[in-house]
Amino acid sequence: MAEYETFEHDVLVIGAGGAGLRAAIEASAAGVSVGLVCKSLLGKAHTVMAEGGIAAALANVDDRDNWKVHFADTMRGGQYVNNWRMAELHAKEAPDRVRELEAWGAVFDRTKDGRILQRNFGGHKYPRLAHVGDRTGLEMIRTLQDHGVHQGIDVHMERTILTLLKQDGRIVGAFGYDRERGRFLVFRAKAIVLATGGIGRAYKITSNSWEYTGDGHALGYRAGAELIDMEFVQFHPTGMVWPPSVCGILVTEGVRGEGGTLTNKEGRRFMFDSVPENYRAQTADNEEEGWLYCQGDKNARRPPELLTRDHIARCIVREIKEGRGSPHGGVFLDIAWIGKKIPNAAEHIKKKLPSMYHQFKQLADIDITEEPMEVGPTTHYMMGGIRVDSDTQMSRVPGLFAAGECAAGINGANRLGGNSLSDLLVFGKRAGEFAAKFAKENQHGAINTTEIENVAREALRPFEQREGENPYTLQGDLQETMQDNVGIVRTEAEMKSQLEHLRKLWEQASRVGVSGNREFNPGWHTALDLKNLLTVSEAITRAALERKESRGAQFREDYPEKDERFAKVNTIISQAADGSIQVRLEPVPEMPDYLKTIIEEMK
Ligand code: FUM
Repeated sequence: MAEYETFEHDVLVIGAGGAGLRAAIEASAAGVSVGLVCKSLLGKAHTVMAEGGIAAALANVDDRDNWKVHFADTMRGGQYVNNWRMAELHAKEAPDRVRELEAWGAVFDRTKDGRILQRNFGGHKYPRLAHVGDRTGLEMIRTLQDHGVHQGIDVHMERTILTLLKQDGRIVGAFGYDRERGRFLVFRAKAIVLATGGIGRAYKITSNSWEYTGDGHALGYRAGAELIDMEFVQFHPTGMVWPPSVCGILVTEGVRGEGGTLTNKEGRRFMFDSVPENYRAQTADNEEEGWLYCQGDKNARRPPELLTRDHIARCIVREIKEGRGSPHGGVFLDIAWIGKKIPNAAEHIKKKLPSMYHQFKQLADIDITEEPMEVGPTTHYMMGGIRVDSDTQMSRVPGLFAAGECAAGINGANRLGGNSLSDLLVFGKRAGEFAAKFAKENQHGAINTTEIENVAREALRPFEQREGENPYTLQGDLQETMQDNVGIVRTEAEMKSQLEHLRKLWEQASRVGVSGNREFNPGWHTALDLKNLLTVSEAITRAALERKESRGAQFREDYPEKDERFAKVNTIISQAADGSIQVRLEPVPEMPDYLKTIIEEMK
């Protein structure tokens, strides 16, 4: 018999980044008992990697901004396969969530007249990102954590959930283990909020840290939830490429928001070479000062480096492939040039981009106030995830909610930078509110001990096959092949070969072996993560094969154009009765007229 300790909460939140913390705060404020499970330590979340800011139409810097413009920008960025209701709620509620964060103690950068300062970011028509230098995500986590711990939330640090428990189709708890001692744990709960973040560790080059193994996506899927739009993986255009040990670490879009330009080895601002249809390029004599002007709105200009991430990432890949890259396989990102334009530029850069300054100084021995950085695309964010009700965030499994990156809908085919932090706040709050409501309306259910026995036995199997497959080798193999075959540019042949490879990896993973014992054993943890990584990798590959077109973050070399037949469809993944992954296409629900009118007006 497996031994385990049991905890009981009304609402269990799994994941302690921005969405998880915000959900826990809201549920607790509603008067229910809340448990918060973190895979690592409280405060260490990928949320801190959204460095450049929180997108919210506060209109502090440009008073033409409002929720309608933000909504239209988000839909355009997502190429109209977004869940329009989520995009609407997000644009409407983000300003209040930012002001609330400020009231809880977040110290934002300020305009001269003392309001929250906002900066430019890709795809946002007006300066919209409320920020704290380039440490916005960090400040957000600090504030939420501070606020949350005073609400009496029970925090379970360094715990990993292996399965969600159900009774008669409804969520009743979760089963997992503590990473330090390897002991099993049962969490009884009336409602669960998944807020585990993304899947970046399925790829070799990523800005995500080790925790991002698609846990929430896979847990939700195995519990019966559907996954939506899994083909849309965001490759942030700018990660570090050198030295190899730090390859993939994020270089915030804030650098470009503050005026950074992208150049190739010929010194050319190559982003002027692919100007989208609705823009007109105008370069000054001094090319560093060039702009794109939006057709029909001569006041809305932006540098080409602030087009959407999918577009910029592809342009960078093109430069590198065609031999115009930087010495270490990237392109150049230059913020130092602003010294020609503003006095005390070095001080200004250090003030606005303190983390970037230190990151490059310490990791690459580069002074960004004097010389350009070398950057290239890095796997950063998952637009696809658990399909949820737009207002309540509940999945199709009663009692199972999801928020943040592991949930999906708002971003469509491509997320605009800064929209993730506001998404975490808006939908984290909603998930917490409705999970608490569900918990109040339902009783605790019964835990199936046979199920727990089975999961525990499976989790311990790697110790019985010590000479089996090495978990690190399998993880490395998966990351390498996902990067090569289902990366920024995809083809049917590559993806089909990846599916075949995944089949072999599944087999090998069933024979994975580890040495040592259950006490802090990273090899064992890696072995346990494999199942989730393989699940999300297969879901991504199957969804990407199904969408036979290029849209947003999905670029198919064999179908390089957008296709009307896919313009209004989502890919839906669910688990079949035999355990296999099923994919189907479903029409995007018709948008109501008042939202269509907004989009038309904004065009
Ligand atoms: O570039 C960045 O600072 C990332 C922001 C985001 O992903 O929202």
